[in-house]
Amino acid sequence: QAVPAGCHIRFNLQTGQNEAKLAEEEGLKQQMINKETSMFMAEDIKKALKKFKGFKDFSEKDQVKKSQRAQFRSMDELKKDMAALDIQVETDVQIITKLLYQLNNTNSTVDQKVTALLDLEYLVHQVDNAHNLVSMGGLILVTDTLNDTNDKLQESAAFVLGAAVSSNPSVQVMALKCGTLQKLLTLLATPQPLPIKKKVLFALACLLHHFPFAQRQFVKLGGLQVLHELFQTHGAETLHVRIITVLYDMITEKELVSQTGVDPVLDSNHQEILDQYGEVILLPMLVEQGWCSLVPEVLTYPDHDRREKALLTLLAMVSHCQLHYLQNPTLSILLSALHKQYQKMAFTEKTQGEEDGYFGEILVLVDSLLKML
Ligand SMILES: *[C@@H]1O[C@H](CO)[C@@H](O)[C@H](O)[C@H]1NC(C)=O
Ligand SMILES: *[C@@H]1O[C@H](CO)[C@@H](O)[C@H](O)[C@H]1NC(C)=O
Ligand SMILES: *[C@@H]1O[C@H](CO)[C@@H](O)[C@H](O)[C@H]1NC(C)=O
Repeated sequence: QAVPAGCHIRFNLQTGQNEAKLAEEEGLKQQMINKETSMFMAEDIKKALKKFKGFKDFSEKDQVKKSQRAQFRSMDELKKDMAALDIQVETDVQIITKLLYQLNNTNSTVDQKVTALLDLEYLVHQVDNAHNLVSMGGLILVTDTLNDTNDKLQESAAFVLGAAVSSNPSVQVMALKCGTLQKLLTLLATPQPLPIKKKVLFALACLLHHFPFAQRQFVKLGGLQVLHELFQTHGAETLHVRIITVLYDMITEKELVSQTGVDPVLDSNHQEILDQYGEVILLPMLVEQGWCSLVPEVLTYPDHDRREKALLTLLAMVSHCQLHYLQNPTLSILLSALHKQYQKMAFTEKTQGEEDGYFGEILVLVDSLLKML
């Protein structure tokens, strides 16, 4: 479906869905007529209207009843309306300025600040807006908000940071320079409510993603140790999958680069990138800290998603963890039980006509692990 130019669309990494911002009256006008992003031009509207079956009838005035016609407006009328609305255009830069002011103003209530942060989170998914946030001093402001005494503000600040650095290499670099990594690790290492930890883990994952230099810093600053302690914290079980996902992503990212290399055309500094990945020492550290026996715990959860992630992570670590796996009697019992369960489920799946079903995939993972043991 055609979406008006200027309407905010984003791909939500957490849900995998495309989202368009529901605009209120003012916002909608502004988005329809955004000066910066080119708007629906008159020609586009004409073209779109032609695709409607009723368009011919509409142009042949006599055949159209007046009541029907009243729903349409001529191009001239539309243009006039648009021109009138043009006055109210507010660019994203202006909006970000206002939001930062609201966040920075000591007179703002906590609710106002949280609202400002959530609106910023929405905007900074766009690469340009994330750059605007940096150039307007917003990145430092948001990073400082991680320190606030209010939980909701801390949580929202982490949410904004994750969105701003996500798939945005230059903002990742700026965030690292601002000391964001240390702040995130501090929040993970100290007692904080779960919602904060969740968003902080999200921001951390976004900051480390495809950024070997940050990954090395993360290891250097004891990040693996911090995650290890968090994993074992009573009550933090809901974070287990998020934690092992951070590890899994780093392991496989490094693996992929060392196998396929970096595209010398796309990345002119590919040798440097390779070197940087080479300096991220992950697997030996993971073994040393006992992750080979921690990750199997996630297999005991009843839901398939978490088990799948655990199996993938166990496989990613197998080159270094094999001995530990072999010496873990619980793991072999668990895997045998899972093998039985998923064999049955995969069979049912097949009899229902699904050849490459989900349970079949999990079964393949279980069997690959069993084979290596
Ligand atoms: C905060 O409110 C006080 C009293 O209304 C006002 O004098 C002051 O200028 C405000 N400060 C800011 C930064 O808006
Ligand atoms: C926040 O306010 C302080 C002091 O009022 C000011 O120096 C600073 O530039 C402001 N920061 C931003 C990002 O607007
Ligand atoms: C923020 O927290 C860090 C460590 O948690 C502390 O060193 C720093 O002084 C704090 N900054 C502010 C502005 O409160």
